[in-house]
Amino acid sequence: MAAFSGLSGVAGIAGLSTCASAQTDWPADWPADSLKAIARSRGLRFGSALGGQEPESQQRFGFADPAYRALIARECELLVHENEMKWQALRPSRDRFEFTRADAILQWAETQGLSTRGHTLLWQAPRWLPAWLNQLDFGSTPVKAAEAILREHIRTVTQRYGRRIMSWDVVNESVAHEDGELRANAFSPHLGTFGQVELAFRYAAEYAPHAELVYNDYMGMGRYFIKHRAGVLKLLDGLRKRDAPVHALGLQAHVGTSANGEWSGRGGEDEREWRRFLDEVTGMGLKLLITEFDVSDQHLLADTARRDTEVAAIGKAFLDITLSYRQLRDVLCWGMADAYSWLQVFGPRTDQLMKRGTPYDAHLQPKPLRQALAAALRAAPPR
Ligand code: G3I
Repeated sequence: MAAFSGLSGVAGIAGLSTCASAQTDWPADWPADSLKAIARSRGLRFGSALGGQEPESQQRFGFADPAYRALIARECELLVHENEMKWQALRPSRDRFEFTRADAILQWAETQGLSTRGHTLLWQAPRWLPAWLNQLDFGSTPVKAAEAILREHIRTVTQRYGRRIMSWDVVNESVAHEDGELRANAFSPHLGTFGQVELAFRYAAEYAPHAELVYNDYMGMGRYFIKHRAGVLKLLDGLRKRDAPVHALGLQAHVGTSANGEWSGRGGEDEREWRRFLDEVTGMGLKLLITEFDVSDQHLLADTARRDTEVAAIGKAFLDITLSYRQLRDVLCWGMADAYSWLQVFGPRTDQLMKRGTPYDAHLQPKPLRQALAAALRAAPPR
């Protein structure tokens, strides 16, 4: 049985506020209604990812910033750990689990009345699995060993948190974007690339029978995602045919523009294709979530005002279409402020300017994207 570290290290995390009193007075000119209140008025729920700083990590994370935590608590009723619930964070070795950082964020979320999503019980790409697993010799009975490792991980993590986690990204990004095929990893020779996905959902249903079980991926609008969308539909259809306990598709919703504009996915054929995709997914009886919304402005003009306007327009166009599906109830951003967004380290702008793909700027001031989010939530058909 693997050993693991528990809550003991929580106090050591700088600036951990354990009560709502950490709320700061909001500037008078701030929007009156919070995003969670607007969402709730339409039967939706709004939230965000939140991550804790890691040594030498290139990205800045906001958990240790009381003002950012207060902003999250004001705007959100859902939370998801940005990194702390992933294999690479939880599993320093085959025989150890390390929960201190995950526990700290979950405990804070609960003090603020936030409901937490779990991300993720299996991220299929080897790049996001721990080195010890990628290099593992599964021994003389490799199928049994592989099943045992996957089962132990899912059982230990889901049973540690029980009903404190109400929805799990059971599997993340199984489909390779470039060809729509399933990604191979250390489990594949023994469990199969599809078989490990089915097993993960069956284990999650066994150990977290209360939870919403989600397949999460970044396929989006536009020609750039044609193979990716097709691969996801094939995976979901295969899981349905095997009667696997999959309840929903997580749309990561990392929208925005690429150099040749392929990603923007606005209007015309791109919109029809996106609606066709969502119709097929919901036609399988699956619910939808927006799990990681942000807007990449990597290739937009440098001018802040014009860029903010374009980011808001791209974001709202996507949200207006996607929120029209009543099977979608939960909307989460992948971070609420530019300074703490992964976008700063993924595909940085050539002019080195800070990317402005989240609802708040680096000074925690609301931007046009925040108003676009509010407008899209207000315009959504009631659930
Ligand atoms: O934990 C190590 C630390 O020990 C080490 O010193 C440091 C320097 O190497 O790296 C730390 O790990 C980093 C981790 O974030 C925590 O800071 C990884 O290198 C870095 O790659 C990782 O990036 C995260 C990425 O997922 C990969 O896990 C981003 O913050 C996070 O925003 C991003 O989120 C993903 C979702 O999980 C899935 N959907 C796409 C989304 C964006 O890529």
